Amino acid sequence: MLYTFLYRQLYTRFAWAYDGVSWLVSLGHWGGWRRAALDFVVGADVLEVGFGTGELLAEMAGRGMAVTGLEASAAMHTITTRKLTAGQLSAPRVQGFAQQLPFAHASFDTILATFPAGFVTDPAAHKEFVRVLRPRGRLIFVDVTLSTDNPLFRFFYSLAFPPSPKAAARFAEALDESSLQISRRVVGDGPVQVVVTLGEKAGASVPAV
Ligand SMILES: C[S@@+](CC[C@H](N)C(=O)[O-])C[C@H]1O[C@@H](n2cnc3c(N)ncnc32)[C@H](O)[C@@H]1O
Repeated sequence: MLYTFLYRQLYTRFAWAYDGVSWLVSLGHWGGWRRAALDFVVGADVLEVGFGTGELLAEMAGRGMAVTGLEASAAMHTITTRKLTAGQLSAPRVQGFAQQLPFAHASFDTILATFPAGFVTDPAAHKEFVRVLRPRGRLIFVDVTLSTDNPLFRFFYSLAFPPSPKAAARFAEALDESSLQISRRVVGDGPVQVVVTLGEKAGASVPAV
């Protein structure tokens, strides 16, 4: 409850502090963790959901990728606009919610969300992801997991990433209920590892002859 409130503040009133806070809690690794998503992108058209301060969006635009961004917070949009303008980059952006994507069916080859917010536990968002993905498209979520028993590490990690078994169960349920083929990859070998969750949409069925 308290964490939900604090996170919401960080996405809105205190969005200006987001890059600093994420750098601090990850000891400078946040950008690298987030970038793990790029190794899994398929196709040309990419949608980033919940792009936050637009770091990855700017990186993808800088690489010449056809990326569109969707983000709920107006404050995050303002920061991202500033960043893209400073880098002379552009990427179409929409203020909206993952649960109601303002895009036509089968618009994107990849949908990705790094350190996604609560929308990943909402079946309505998953329905939307499946709807706007093209056949053989891919959904990518990036998060981290702790892989050490060191108590000090565990303590600090739980402050930054408070365990929420209920949210984890709802996330697993939402994935189960989506029609996507789910798999997981763990990247890196440090005490904190990146977990990439992939959801593959089936290809168009071949008409019977
Ligand atoms: C933890 S931040 C992650 C930001 C960025 N992707 C990163 O890797 O740092 C989650 C972002 O999702 C946005 N968000 C929260 N709920 C959303 C929703 N329902 N639809 C779209 N964006 C949402 C928040 O405003 C916030 O910017």
